[in-house]
Amino acid sequence: MDSAGVPTPDPRESAAADEPRDQTPRKGPALKILFIGDIVGSPGRKIVHERLADILAQREIDLCIVNCENAASGFGVTPRIAEDIFAAGADVLTSGNHIWKRKEIIEYLPGQPRLLRPANFPISSPGHGLYVGRAKNGVGYAVLDLQGRTFMTPIEDPFRTATLELARVPPDVKVIIVDMHAEATSEKVAMGWHLDGKVSAVLGTHTHVPTADFRVLPGGTAYITDVGMTGPHDSVIGMEKRGILEHFFDNTMPSRFVVAEGDIRMNGVQIDVDESTGHARSIDRLTFRLD
Ligand code: FE2
Repeated sequence: MDSAGVPTPDPRESAAADEPRDQTPRKGPALKILFIGDIVGSPGRKIVHERLADILAQREIDLCIVNCENAASGFGVTPRIAEDIFAAGADVLTSGNHIWKRKEIIEYLPGQPRLLRPANFPISSPGHGLYVGRAKNGVGYAVLDLQGRTFMTPIEDPFRTATLELARVPPDVKVIIVDMHAEATSEKVAMGWHLDGKVSAVLGTHTHVPTADFRVLPGGTAYITDVGMTGPHDSVIGMEKRGILEHFFDNTMPSRFVVAEGDIRMNGVQIDVDESTGHARSIDRLTFRLD
């Protein structure tokens, strides 16, 4: 203290103050998440079984989420198929409007919390739409499955449901991935903005065609309107072209929809999420082809 009562600078503090300060925000470790779009039939399952494990290893993925609702001949999923996809490397499976197409899934679903049906299904529906778990590196995460209502069955409000379900996620779980299974682009985009800053990613599924609008929204939420499907692309969104064309030419006659076979591709997105904040750092769209 000098005579005027002004504190005398500590020479050690002065030395520290003269050193340049790094103003760059500190970045903690990132959780690497791979989300695979709707598996369609046996061609979709084939590429998952042949390629997914290598992709997870090469990209050092911590958490793999797969939408499986078209995995059984294009409609629904069976317990055996679900177990096969888990064995191929998926940690959590999401679904949508076709989840009940295979009756055997009704008894399987309540006993397998890592297979989700949309959270805004009627409250009496078997199973759950939210899963909270830990990734391979120990980081807590949550996956929320929602379904849109525009041009689809008018179920519960997915926006209000999202708010209610997110309130159930433990506060220490920062990494939250939402599958928004919906027909209308506008409804998916709106959900992205509704949840921006509240979740790590809002990823659209159901329409099967990948979109080019992937980005990280201002609040730190990764977004894409549709991830795209995993299955045969020499098709109309996975089905043989002939049956679909017959349907469109004369939609009064019954048509038989059969899963196509050619040009098998796996569409997905990789999201890198800051483990401490849950904010997405990046989202990249990925396509893999079967040789
Ligand atoms: Fe769907």
